[in-house]
Amino acid sequence: MTTRIEPITEKSISEAKEILLQGGIIGMPTETVYGLAAVGTDSVAVKKIYEVKGRPSDNPLIAHIHKDYDLNKLVYIDNDYATELFRAYSPGPLTLVFRSKGVICREAVCGGETLAVRIPSHEGCQRLLKAVDAPIVAPSANLSKHTSPVTAMHVYNDLNGKIPLILDGGKCSGGIESTVVDVTGDVPRILRAGLITKEMIEKITEKCEIARHKETDKVRSPGVKYRHYRPNCETALFKESELDKVKELYESYLKAGKKPFVLCSDRVKEKLGDMNFLLLGKNEEEIASNLYLKLLEGEKIADIIIAVEMPDEKGVNLGIMNRLRKSCG
Ligand code: TXA
Ligand code: MG
Repeated sequence: MTTRIEPITEKSISEAKEILLQGGIIGMPTETVYGLAAVGTDSVAVKKIYEVKGRPSDNPLIAHIHKDYDLNKLVYIDNDYATELFRAYSPGPLTLVFRSKGVICREAVCGGETLAVRIPSHEGCQRLLKAVDAPIVAPSANLSKHTSPVTAMHVYNDLNGKIPLILDGGKCSGGIESTVVDVTGDVPRILRAGLITKEMIEKITEKCEIARHKETDKVRSPGVKYRHYRPNCETALFKESELDKVKELYESYLKAGKKPFVLCSDRVKEKLGDMNFLLLGKNEEEIASNLYLKLLEGEKIADIIIAVEMPDEKGVNLGIMNRLRKSCG
């Protein structure tokens, strides 16, 4: 199969729609990362997603809907605060987990009772969702365990020959996956941190919990238990208080005739001096937006990516640190 990358036009949208309605799967842009899309009621198509990615079959998918789609068709909204959260932060990088009405096929929810739903804000993605006018399930469009794609070319590099079409919606602005929040209980619980932060959720709901995933837990969001986001080169991760170790490791690679790169914020670079850098930017939003981009750039040019942690785990940094640990730790 040849894989084509097409800019978003009326023609490519209608072509994408045809492929999806005939049970195919395609790459689609969102504002967070690129998704590997199938119609959520089509169990044959959904199985293809798991095959193509090599995704574990116990890790459920998110259903993506356009902004005028009636959420009540898919889920039971047990708590008013869920509606308020969507009103405040959607369309955008927020996924809510509800009790499912069973419209989305079993394969997509791994036989579970709940369904994760999000309304992407990416304009091209909205156009596709509107055209199809059905919920589209999509995990990130990378091979399982690899770094998530934030350009159409990244999707191509992982899935060339396995899917017919990738819609090119430019570089994803958000850069890390949506915040996943369980809204089935009295208090919202963050299952995966992202750009919609605990602090932002608390503005709407007063309380918000963060699920702590331990080895022994019955996992509520199975995706968090797997090794994830890894670039195809060696990696190391240090705290900002360990810059001497960063330099030591960096030097040892240079001496061995290898190419080390340091992945860090602009601020940390100032403390390190003359080295090869993969620079993430100045503030949290910029750093999130550049994280996967720089990891995927790094794997092509570096023998090792030596990453430096964020200064704290507040706000967006919680989501960034969660990805950094899995990709480089
Ligand atoms: O930003 C995003 O969320 C991107 C774009 C493409 O929309 N999608 C994405 O999908 O990151 P994926 O499949 O890579 O990650 C989905 C996460 C996983 O951690 C999965 O376990 C969790 O959402 N999830 C999905 N359905 C769930 C459910 N019913 N209950 C709990 N967690 C769920
Ligand atoms: Mg993923």
